[in-house]
Formats: sequence, structure tokens, C-alpha cells
Amino acid sequence: MSPAATIAGRSPERRDYRALPANRVGGSIEVPGDKSISHRALMLGAIAEGETRVRGFLASEDCIATRRAFEALGVRITDEPDGSLRIAGVGPAGLTAAGKPLDLGNSGTAIRLLTGLLAAQPFDSVLTGDESLRQRPMERVAAPLRTMGARIRTRDGRAPIEISGGARLVGIDYTQPVASAQVKSALLLAGLYASGTTVVRSPGPSRDHTERMLRSLGARLDTEDDGLAVAITGPQTLRGGEIDVPGDLSSAAFFIVAGCLGAADGLLIRNVGVNPSRNGILTILTAMGARIELRNPRMAGAEPVADLFVERSELTGIDVPPDLVPLAIDEFPILFVAAAGARGPTIVRGAEELRHKESDRIAAMARGLAALGAKVEEREAGLIIEGGRLRGGQVDSHGDHRVAMSFAVASLLSDEPIEIRDTAAVATSFPSFLQVAAACGLAVSGS
Ligand code: S3P
Repeated sequence: MSPAATIAGRSPERRDYRALPANRVGGSIEVPGDKSISHRALMLGAIAEGETRVRGFLASEDCIATRRAFEALGVRITDEPDGSLRIAGVGPAGLTAAGKPLDLGNSGTAIRLLTGLLAAQPFDSVLTGDESLRQRPMERVAAPLRTMGARIRTRDGRAPIEISGGARLVGIDYTQPVASAQVKSALLLAGLYASGTTVVRSPGPSRDHTERMLRSLGARLDTEDDGLAVAITGPQTLRGGEIDVPGDLSSAAFFIVAGCLGAADGLLIRNVGVNPSRNGILTILTAMGARIELRNPRMAGAEPVADLFVERSELTGIDVPPDLVPLAIDEFPILFVAAAGARGPTIVRGAEELRHKESDRIAAMARGLAALGAKVEEREAGLIIEGGRLRGGQVDSHGDHRVAMSFAVASLLSDEPIEIRDTAAVATSFPSFLQVAAACGLAVSGS
């Protein structure tokens, strides 16, 4: 058994899905908690003073990897009978050395944010992950952290990441070349400990969950330029509190598209996060003709949520405005499936970042859709897809959870079964995917 196969409790089997043709979905479903917010709840709760209670925490492999990392760093985290998580915050100076490499499994968010946080601690740390994570770029966080004074080594720009503790961090004014919430958040976490002011400027929007949660736990942050510049002055101490994790829009996205393709009587997806810094999927699908209604919009703690009512819609291909790409960065695999079911071509440009996710998502989706008979043209930074029906066949997820789930939804466009290879990674973000898929009428089974 390879070490990568057992990370964060992942079963060593590859597992496959078989998705039978479906033409109708409906009913009322809920998706599990938001992955980005669940990671941040653990991280900020751990270094806050006092207790933090987290409701709606996503118990997926990625977030469990973060939980185990904080337990190894000396934080007591307990599951409460009501399903919530209780984090006994150790305060800003209370983390202790893990004494072993921290294994973050498949999670880019966990490893990058932790790099920022651990760069500011008095002890040494080593961060690593599975095969996919060890191929992803880490200098995007390591380099700016070094200019703050952090002592960090990567291996050819990748994990394992070795951090030497005891560095005195000082604030910097950093302009990101590409808008990344992970890089921004890593620097803000380091900035919480640094002396002076840390400013992070971004060329475009990226999710602002860190900023919202930091503020809700008592931190002072300044934002300018519609949030494109964020400043934090350290050192600051967080106070534990209550965190409500909404349903993950990125998980809901599979069912939003399923609803557009097959919900003749509508599909209701309850309690979904609709944070404007990452709701590009709704804007893009609406521009394609999707009928999506946001019902009962409200706040869940620091985050906006709504119930989404989706109806079968005649989708039309569009030229996706490149400025919407960062707002829907995790949703392109399922958007490509929506495009495959739309009338006319859909053009996606300016999406080079997709090549650096859990897999190369441009290549993985282009290959899979082509295997199912779609007309796709792969470009360096995007894809052109001509809509129509799909045929059945076999596709490979390339170990990528979102690719696997997207092809399961593609069964609404095919009259023959679709076999999806290597789907174990679905557990990193959406362990109950098969149950939720069945609840709304998709016929996907695992083996
Ligand atoms: C995330 C940020 C995004 C996203 C990832 C989660 C986060 O990455 O793709 O799945 O939780 O901060 P980048 O902001 O680095 O593009």
C-alpha cells in the first residue's frame, strides 16, 4: 500500500462510478457544509482565545486532514452530541510542535493556509500531502512569506514544505500576480502574527471567507478597492465564537446544473452559501439561460445564504467573460458539462489556473467529454465546447473529486451508461454525493 493511498483515512481502493441515463431530477435536497469555511473555522478557532462552536462543519477527508493537523499541534477538538464541533482555542501562542510531518492529504487550502500560520510559530513544521498535492505549486505562498521574514523550504517549488520556527515576521505590501484566496489567506494569517501592517492586493476578486471570519472573531481588517486590497496590522488576538457553516455552493453546483438539465418540476437546494466573491456559477449559468431563483436570502453568521430553486432550462452557449473566471474557479468542470448540454458553442478563456487544481481540469474534462462524443477544442487557458447530446462510455476522473461528480451529472445528457474511473477522491469534499444524487433522481452507483 502506498503512503499516499492511506492519507487522511482515504481508502486505498480506486473505486468507480456507473451513472445510468437519467432524464428527470427533482425534489428538495441539502448539500453538506462549505469546505473553504470549514477549514477556516478549524484554523481560526484553534488560535482564538476561548471556545469556538462550529455548526454545519464538513466532515470530508480534506477537512478531517486539517482537524488532525490541529490535533497534532495540541488543539482539543470534540464532536458534540448535536453534531457541532467544539474547538478549545489555545490562543495565538498556544500551538505546540507536531513532532511529525503534517499530512494534509489532497487539500491545497489546508497546506497553503497552514504554511502562513505555521511560518509565524516558534517551532519547526513539515507539511506534506498526497501525490496530487505534492505536484501543486507552493512557491506562490512560500515566496511572499519569505519576504515577511519566514524561513521556508519547498522541494522544487512543491511540498513537502519545511518551515523553521522562530522567525520574526514583519508586514509587507504584496501584489498577487493571480487572484488567489489561498495565497491571500496565508498572508493574512501570517499578518495576524507579524509586526506592522500586511497588505495583500489582488488583480481580481477571490473568496473572502477568511476576512469575514477574522472579523467575526474580533480581528480588525481594512479593505479598499471593493475588497481587492486587504490590510491587517499585527499582532492581534482572536476571540472564540459561534460559526455557522452554510451548504457548499461548489457542491450545490452539480445539482444546479442537474436541475437545469432535468428538473421539469423544479429542484430545491436548501441552505446554500451565495457569497458574492464566489457565486460566478450563478451569473454564468443565468447568462446561459438557466432559471435559478434565490429564495429566502438571509445571513448565516458572517455569510450570505439562500435556498436555490432550479428549473429545467434551455441553455445556450456563451463566451464566458474572463473576469468571471475567478468567481467560479472550482465550478468549471460542471460548467463544461452544462456547456455540453447547451445550444451552440461555449468559449472559456483566461482559465489557466484550472491546470493547477486537484488535476489539470482543462485536460481532464476535455478528454472525458471527447470520450463521450462531445466536440471540444482544448486551448492553453480554456476550452471551446459545442453543445449537443452525449453518448455513453468510459471516462477517467484523474483522481479529481469535481471531475468525477461532473461526469455523474453528464448522465442527464446521455442515453447510455457512463462509467467513471477512480472516484475515491469524491470523499475529499462530498462524502454523501451518491446519497444526495439518488435523492434527487440521478442513478449513480459506486463499486
Ligand atoms: C480556496 C480557494 C481557491 C479554490 C479552492 C479553495 C480557498 O483556490 O480553488 O478550492 O478555500 O481559499 P485559489 O484561490 O488559490 O484559486
